[in-house]
Amino acid sequence: MPSMASNDSTHTANINQLNGPKTDSLDRRQKIEQHRKALPIATVEKKLLEEVSNNDILIIVGETGSGKTTQLPQYLFNGGFCRNGGIIGITQPRRVAAVTVAKRVAEECGATLGQKVGYSIRFEDTTSSSTRIKYMTDGLLLREALLDPYLSKYSVIIVDEAHERTVQTDVLLGLLKTVQKTRSSSASDVACSDHTKPDNGAMLEKEAIVQSTSILKHSRGKKLSPLKLIIMSASLDARVFSEYFGGARAVHVQGRQFPVDILYTRQPETDYVDAALITIFQIHLEEGPGDVLVFLTGQEEIESIERLVQDRLPKLPESKRNISIIPIFASLPSEKQMKVFLPAPAGFRKVILATNIAETSVTIPGIKYVIDPGMVKVRTYDPNTGIEPLIIVKTSKAQALQRSGRAGRDGPGKCYRLYPENEFYKLKDSTMPEIKRCNLSNVILQLKALGIDDIIGFDFIEEPDRRAIIKSMELLFLLGALTDDGKLSDPVGHQMSRLPLDPIYSKALVVANQFSCLEEMLIVVSMLSVESIFYVPREKLEESRTALKSFSSTEGDHLTLLNTYRASDEFLEKGKLVSSNEKAEKNLRKWCKENFINNRSLKHARDIHSQIRRNVEQMGLRITSCGEDMLPLRRCLSASFFLNAALKQPDGTYRALSSGLTVQIHPSSVLFRAKPECIIFDELVRTNQNYIRNISIIDYLWLIELAPQCYALQE
Ligand code: CDP
Ligand code: MG
Repeated sequence: MPSMASNDSTHTANINQLNGPKTDSLDRRQKIEQHRKALPIATVEKKLLEEVSNNDILIIVGETGSGKTTQLPQYLFNGGFCRNGGIIGITQPRRVAAVTVAKRVAEECGATLGQKVGYSIRFEDTTSSSTRIKYMTDGLLLREALLDPYLSKYSVIIVDEAHERTVQTDVLLGLLKTVQKTRSSSASDVACSDHTKPDNGAMLEKEAIVQSTSILKHSRGKKLSPLKLIIMSASLDARVFSEYFGGARAVHVQGRQFPVDILYTRQPETDYVDAALITIFQIHLEEGPGDVLVFLTGQEEIESIERLVQDRLPKLPESKRNISIIPIFASLPSEKQMKVFLPAPAGFRKVILATNIAETSVTIPGIKYVIDPGMVKVRTYDPNTGIEPLIIVKTSKAQALQRSGRAGRDGPGKCYRLYPENEFYKLKDSTMPEIKRCNLSNVILQLKALGIDDIIGFDFIEEPDRRAIIKSMELLFLLGALTDDGKLSDPVGHQMSRLPLDPIYSKALVVANQFSCLEEMLIVVSMLSVESIFYVPREKLEESRTALKSFSSTEGDHLTLLNTYRASDEFLEKGKLVSSNEKAEKNLRKWCKENFINNRSLKHARDIHSQIRRNVEQMGLRITSCGEDMLPLRRCLSASFFLNAALKQPDGTYRALSSGLTVQIHPSSVLFRAKPECIIFDELVRTNQNYIRNISIIDYLWLIELAPQCYALQE
């Protein structure tokens, strides 16, 4: 692999200054230019442009922070790759990365977000007809392919963070491989023939003919411009991508890394959250200046540490209370996400609490200390039971190295791994691609909607387990999305594929009209789509339970979520009548706090709600309400969540009917004590027990009536 050296003498720009208090804009522009020029990638700009010109597929490998994501699209824009109105699309596995990077690049270009530079993510689109550099999630580009199968408005597509190997990235790579081939052949007019076969090498033999032909058929007669495809990765091993793309060229952009001291614990920690908390204070009290980055597994953990730190601060001497806590996780509202890039107030130490988002997707300047408990939350899939629990597992070695690397971006740093050294050597080298460990029903629905019917024949970069494909197809069939011969059903399957949701949620919306409760179901689905609406601080257990009571429904958590949403909506609307929108929002935040409701999650649910409401309206569905009577809503839940039904057993535990697993109601459920006979649930969480969350009471007879494909009268 050719290596592109960077010029170390350029390492002078102070990144923190860039985001500092606004001085005059000329000064700021100069600083931005200085910062851009000092990035390792800047020294190879010309070379990279040549490589892209000479290669239709290029793989770029480069260490995190070298400037790939923010700079390359700008180089390409300036290098003329948007001539003739073409757009440069950059996909990210994570929403947060798409949003923060787009904002940053817009600023670097001196443009308003949404003009030359914009982003588009699942529930938010800021692009306009003048957008030429478009950041988006990989899932979103896949959705665009439904409307524009050759992605014809893009002149360049950059698949960023490909090493993450999310299921959406993997599927996108498969799709882009064909799209690119189709566009090249259409452009050179050599073939719009269904008989076009790849001619070079064994790798290309694997071409998914079915897929190629289905797209080629569409393209016949149309003239398409060729597409440049760039795959970017932070992992040094480019082989897997290069081989997949028939020996595509790979280049390496060198990064810059200062030494990082790795510290381990002597003993394994029993409670890593507690250990992380102690380490934060230890660094703050004993170490020199520098910001801290803590890797946690999810929103709940992050918010709980945030509260614990805030609670403990008043106990420190006044001069030591100078900690500024900044959370960052996927579902954080986008206006809050940029805060991680701002410097802490003068004299304060910034402590960033992040999920694995901060491993490679977002590079935060100024980090000197990293705390790595060595854990990560992943989705797993068991094709035997069809369940897909989120579990917390140990990171891989590659992840641990990426995490510690974050401490050495701006100068020498320290990484505190909260486990003993010998544990490190036992970690897996790298993480298994998600496609090998997830429910594929969403992907299959998308591929089918793209006209790709032969899922087993699809040219995946790494093939998923056949049992997982079959189980996921079965799920779609039971939901009524697929016909007997495996085609998308009309209208249910087609409608479901148009919604950017989990198939079960889509099904709930698509059938809600039959139960006259689409209005309510839109709210329920939005609330289920966000993490932890309620929070229950350990020290305020009773207070929070009392607060929850005013929303809680004896019929279950779905109705409780509906009540909560409506109460907050009513509060906000009333507030807007008597004060400014801003003031009303502020009062809502206060109201949320008093009621132990997570304002961030609620806001996110509101955004999702307005987006999916628009989606169903565009599909021509009428938004009906069931009024006061909630029976139709619970029946509708039974008609869509029937695969997540459970029956009480004599010992008080439950048996999940489709998987046969023994499960328990999670203590956070309003039905935890009531223990009804028959229930449906939203998700299964596996810790030391199988817990089910978000539960509603149903009648077993409804299952027989509404899901006869799965249930019959018991003997
Ligand atoms: O993609 P890669 O990891 O190679 O780097 P990047 O994301 O393009 O980041 C290049 C530089 O821009 C880093 O020094 C980041 O700290 C900085 N950056 C920033 O200050 N604010 C952002 N929103 C994004 C990046
Ligand atoms: Mg990047």
